[in-house]
Amino acid sequence: MSQLTTLDVAQWHRPLDPAVTTNATRELEAGNVLFLPHLKFTLTDAEQRFLSPAWSDGKAKNVSYDPLAAQIRHTSAEGADRQQLAAMMARFAQQARELVSSLCPGYAQHLRWGLTSFRPVETRGRASSRRKDDTRVHVDAFASRPNQGLRILRVFCNVNPRGEPRVWELGEPFNAVAQRFRDCVAPQWPGSAWLIERLRITKGRRSAYDHIMLNLHDKSKLDDAYQQSTPKTRVEFPAQSTWIVFTDRVMHAALAGQFLLEQTVYLPVAAMQDERCAPLRILEQIYQRQLA
Ligand code: SIN
Ligand code: FE
Repeated sequence: MSQLTTLDVAQWHRPLDPAVTTNATRELEAGNVLFLPHLKFTLTDAEQRFLSPAWSDGKAKNVSYDPLAAQIRHTSAEGADRQQLAAMMARFAQQARELVSSLCPGYAQHLRWGLTSFRPVETRGRASSRRKDDTRVHVDAFASRPNQGLRILRVFCNVNPRGEPRVWELGEPFNAVAQRFRDCVAPQWPGSAWLIERLRITKGRRSAYDHIMLNLHDKSKLDDAYQQSTPKTRVEFPAQSTWIVFTDRVMHAALAGQFLLEQTVYLPVAAMQDERCAPLRILEQIYQRQLA
């Protein structure tokens, strides 16, 4: 079962003792959540106005920002508002990446940018389908963005101004989920990965790894009996706290909460302290073949 490992870090960027960073990296890779109760993201007075669901475009729910292209999407904001919201998210992106680099210096040179997300809408009751319902425990896998085994590491910061926590559940170990749903993973049709790439359904080629991860995500979410019976631990991340987790390995669900900033970074398996902890390597053990 995934657990919280608490770290008393109060700055986004600070060189840390190697004993601390080795341990932090080990905990993350082992499938635990690094919880930083004293690390907060400070909004300027002017940015306080962004703490409202009105800034979502009403369709995507999450405002998203691409740090590489410096582009903001899925927001109702226009003109100066749009620029300032983008600047706030860019600042979070930068700090989140610096945090990962200080906690896991071995990753620093190998990290690749993912998207930044601002979630100003209450989580409870916002899902449109069971597959999209993040209140059901799951590992993350992106249908349109295959990642060939790259790790998905995410930095979350609860910026709720009313002191409300973000409530999560953590589920069973990855190995257990992978074993349990092994027989539910349909074979990948020959040529299908090529076709969905050609049709631009995916950005890049969906590997066997991506196919299995997507199946684990979908099959576990759609299985009501599994959702009810699987062991879960409830955790509350207080307002003004930060946590980091490899969401491609840790079973998680978000039950409640409003106003969250999240940064995704990708990490090649080869840059890990212990590659054997990667879902790619765990699945290759289970399926007895190369998957990416
Ligand atoms: C998720 O990654 O499943 C949702 C996390 C959150 O919005 O708190
Ligand atoms: Fe998720």
